[in-house]
Amino acid sequence: MYLRQLCCVQLTRSPAFAVGFHMAGIALIGCGTVGTQVFRILASREDRFTHLAGAPLEVRHVVVRDPGKKRDPGIPSTLLSSNAEAAISDPAVSIVCELMGGIDEARRILDIAIANRKHVVTANKALLAEHGASLFSAARSAGVSITFEGAVCGGIPLIDAVRRGLIANEITAVYGILNGTCNYILTQMLDRQTSYADALAKAQSLGYAEADPTLDIDGTDAAHKLAILASVAMRENIAFNAIPMVRGIQDLQLTDLIAGRELGYTCKLLAVAERVDAGVQLSVRPTFIPSSHPLAKVDGAFNAVSIYGDAVGHVLLYGRGAGGGPTASAVVADIIDTAIGTAQATFDRLGPYADGAKAARVVPTDENETAHYIRVELVDRPGGMARIAQVLADEGISIASLVQHAPEGSAGSEGVPVVATTHVTRDDVVHRAVDVMNKLDVVRGPVVCIPAIEERPEF
Ligand code: NAP
Ligand code: HSE
Repeated sequence: MYLRQLCCVQLTRSPAFAVGFHMAGIALIGCGTVGTQVFRILASREDRFTHLAGAPLEVRHVVVRDPGKKRDPGIPSTLLSSNAEAAISDPAVSIVCELMGGIDEARRILDIAIANRKHVVTANKALLAEHGASLFSAARSAGVSITFEGAVCGGIPLIDAVRRGLIANEITAVYGILNGTCNYILTQMLDRQTSYADALAKAQSLGYAEADPTLDIDGTDAAHKLAILASVAMRENIAFNAIPMVRGIQDLQLTDLIAGRELGYTCKLLAVAERVDAGVQLSVRPTFIPSSHPLAKVDGAFNAVSIYGDAVGHVLLYGRGAGGGPTASAVVADIIDTAIGTAQATFDRLGPYADGAKAARVVPTDENETAHYIRVELVDRPGGMARIAQVLADEGISIASLVQHAPEGSAGSEGVPVVATTHVTRDDVVHRAVDVMNKLDVVRGPVVCIPAIEERPEF
């Protein structure tokens, strides 16, 4: 009853539905991994959704790059075309659901949709991370909504939780495993001894990876999601290119994953947004997490986000962040919210995206403070370990542990791994020490340095 009342209110407020809400016509732009599942869910639960929305939700157009391509048999060929403009300008279409990916062409299509006063549902994190602020302000001027639950962590209702469920809070920190492909690869490598290449190929075949999987592996996809999530959580304008530290998993070595595990850590590609006195710290990089923390137990393609609010404390959201079904779950929820009118109300009143807010003061990476894991391959002769300890002492770095592992092969001929962990230290200080170590004649190969999060009350 409440939903129906809200629906009526929204019908008079929203220009996109002003023609009469006998049906919510949908133009699906993109019908690949996610779009196919969106179509299937809408078709298979038609009656329930019609009841919820108060009118049928009808997919009127399915726009793809190649209409001749073999598709799921449930997609009627009569709906297929490659003409996005024609689909959007259909007067019976009130919702444009963009699931094609990419940036420039997707932006062009959404500009047309907004100019035609059509509501937008999208899962395109790359587009929002790069153009979110201007798209949102264009939608505001046109009086339409943009919803994007599927863009960050697929099936986890994360954006809704942050902008509505946690609205009472000042959010102080967000720590997230935001990329399913990387988490799947790390889990497969460590637990199943699968090679990096095989694990990536499997992630691609399961539909987790982006069309260009480099975006997953090099941390860009997680950084896109962090820009969106941090903007919503911190209520400040955080652009993708403002994130000063973005590293991927491509250079990680199994030996470090194993050594970290022996020290009580699990390595994850961790995205962090944390409010500190000087502003907001933002980073995406492989990070050792205490194995006792819930995020360390997140395996496979699952995502999880730890959110810290000043009233609520720690909230952990966990679920499938990649794949057609989980992402379609979020996209369909957005479509229904849009049809009911709750999306417009949230968009108008709660400011789900900080497009009007000031740009966040982002703390330079060098000022980030954390513990560190350092692995050095030392020539096995007396005094090597002491020189490493001296470099750390010279920089005023406090050592938490220093362990020399047994050499493999004949003593004296190969490097011996020495692993140090530090107490919390500024990144620039540790990186200076690593530069010095790399130049020592007792060191073989590049020194490996991975941030490690110490167990502390707020983590
Ligand atoms: P996908 O499988 O590659 O599907 C893309 C679809 O868009 C295809 O149907 C393709 O047509 C169509 N398309 C591409 N360029 C087009 C163009 N210029 N004009 C018209 N249609 C075009 O991609 P996806 O995995 O479903 O991802 C879709 C979006 O959701 C992306 O923004 C992605 O980042 C996001 N997302 C994906 C996941 C996931 O797990 N896959 C999760 C969260 C968010 P053809 O079929 O003819 O090639
Ligand atoms: N490629 C993305 C991932 C899909 O692996 O997390 C979900 O956004």
